[in-house]
Amino acid sequence: DIPLADAPKSTANIMPDAQTVTSVQHWTDTLFSFRVTRPPSLRFRSGEFVMIGLPDERGKPILRAYSIASPNWDDELEFYSIKVPDGPLTSRLQHIKPGDQIILRPKPVGTLVLDALLPGKRLWFLATGTGIAPFASLLRDPETYERYEQVILMHTCRKVAELEYGRELVEGLKDDPLLTEIYGDSFADRLLYYPTATREEYPRRGRITDNLASGKVFADLGLPAMNPADDRAMVCGSMALNLDVTKVLEGFDLREGANSDPREFVVEKAFVGEGV
Ligand code: FAD
Ligand code: A2P
Repeated sequence: DIPLADAPKSTANIMPDAQTVTSVQHWTDTLFSFRVTRPPSLRFRSGEFVMIGLPDERGKPILRAYSIASPNWDDELEFYSIKVPDGPLTSRLQHIKPGDQIILRPKPVGTLVLDALLPGKRLWFLATGTGIAPFASLLRDPETYERYEQVILMHTCRKVAELEYGRELVEGLKDDPLLTEIYGDSFADRLLYYPTATREEYPRRGRITDNLASGKVFADLGLPAMNPADDRAMVCGSMALNLDVTKVLEGFDLREGANSDPREFVVEKAFVGEGV
């Protein structure tokens, strides 16, 4: 074992893909978001993810997949993260401060991109927990609204406080200079927001699967039931959520597609769970 005292003291030496943290915001004791400098050469499609991380005591990188939560036109990169108490990366990452460096491998990939879907009328973003991150990117990308007449964000968490990042994001879109310049006052009608909590009192309750299957969300928002001619969807949550939402979407005759084979919906894991 290398004694700690001999470990590299400056991350700059050992981090060829270093980026500097510019801001950090803690939302709950398990959730935070942060922004970092963007490598000038990094091009990505809104919705994609990259590998980010920190060096361990010996300088070896601990890297994990993270959705880029900022849109592709942004000068900086934003991430929205869980804090796993004993997680190899997030037990450390949750302590970053502005001026610190993180590792960012500039190779964006992912299935939650607009090109992976056939054209349609409405685009549904279905997320639980940190699964909202790729949609935080797509919701701030004007191209999303160029391709679809309406965008619907369903975000479900156990607790109300866990919805706050998404709530503020959606609130901020109403004043987004880029979106209001293009769509003016009509922008408010283009984005429908349907947050639900499952384990605390909140105006809207229940799981995404139940609110879709029962038709409650369609009734509440005044929309027709999902159908393969008009509706497209992107799904991002735990493995169990993804499997269950897939069944519900298939029940509406939507078919899962991919970058190479665009269809009516696409799915990506928000994290890799234990034993999955
Ligand atoms: P790990 O050893 O990686 O995870 C420990 C356990 O914590 C896991 O087994 C799981 O049960 C749980 N867990 C991990 N991540 C989450 C999560 N996000 N929500 C709930 N439980 C979780 N994480 C983010 O916080 N934000 C993202 O934008 C994000 N994007 C991802 C995109 C992809 C394609 C994938 C595969 C994963 C993504 N993750 C994201 C998860 C991330 O890669 C790490 O798992 C997470 O940062 C925890 O790292 P860790 O080393 O602390 O713990
Ligand atoms: P619930 O509180 O009813 O379990 P988790 O923290 O377990 O990933 O859950 C995050 C949110 O997603 C919770 O609101 C949870 O609801 C919901 N959820 C978890 N698993 C599923 C699933 N298989 N289908 C639908 N919703 C789910």
